[in-house]
Amino acid sequence: MTLDIKFVDAPLGHEIRGVDLSKPIPDDVFAEIEAAYDRYGVIVFRGQKLSAEQQVAFSKRFGPLDRYVLEKYNMKSCPEVFIVSNIIENGEPIGLGDAGRYWHTDMWVTPRPPRGSMLHAIEVPHDKDGKPLGDTWTLNMQAAYDALPEELRLKIEGRTAVYSGRKYVEFRIANTPRDPRTGELSEADRVGMEERARNIAPEISHPMVKVHPRTGRKSIYYSEGSIDRIEGYSHEESERILEALHRHVMQPQFMYRHVWQVGDVLMWDNCSCIHKAIGDFEWPQRRHMHRTTLGNPPARASA
Ligand code: SIN
Repeated sequence: MTLDIKFVDAPLGHEIRGVDLSKPIPDDVFAEIEAAYDRYGVIVFRGQKLSAEQQVAFSKRFGPLDRYVLEKYNMKSCPEVFIVSNIIENGEPIGLGDAGRYWHTDMWVTPRPPRGSMLHAIEVPHDKDGKPLGDTWTLNMQAAYDALPEELRLKIEGRTAVYSGRKYVEFRIANTPRDPRTGELSEADRVGMEERARNIAPEISHPMVKVHPRTGRKSIYYSEGSIDRIEGYSHEESERILEALHRHVMQPQFMYRHVWQVGDVLMWDNCSCIHKAIGDFEWPQRRHMHRTTLGNPPARASA
């Protein structure tokens, strides 16, 4: 079979049609899906209706799964599914309301961050005219790496960034919109920040440039507001480089903006892409997503 892949937006975002992910996928079809995922970094399937168990079964075709680091938000009956939602039931958030309204790569807080994530839309918020809200934007860090000005490339190539848990939580609190009724963080956001502060290691290091373990292509590895310093530079120089890098990366030609429909399955590669959830909705507009997290594969011989 040759997959029906619709090109959505450069250089990411390829919609794969004609596949029902709730059913067992033949090996040859799965190989094409996996090749598209490796190649494009972001793939989309529309109109899916997956139970938590079906989503886990399809996710496991890519290899063993990782569990989301904040265990409180993993589904009790199926803990490989992390619930992203602003819905409150019986006074308790059913999931993490804000799983990443900043440019980031998933679970950089762990020494071996995951291969990627799969997000399935169960409920999507709308404005009063029916326009979907709560988009997820993705950004191709391979394309951003390839387009780096030489001077900036030489400054980051072979360098290590030290991420700070404290800096990250402060950044997130400062950049999370307040509940307009109280002027404070919403209850769900407040609980989420406390969970992060309790669970995140004070420091963790990652290379500034990563080689994709399956394709061998290089990407900038970066999450906004979380890097304390680049090793080997003064604090001022490190800040200057991070600002220049941020400006370079945030160019529209590297981005794909996913506008959600119920039933969508969006997958992003965590080594070659970063992403950001757009928090342009608020309760009682309901957003409910199920995320599975693909574990990091062993490097291929060619990588
Ligand atoms: C995430 O970063 O895993 C969640 C993205 C989203 O909520 O759109």
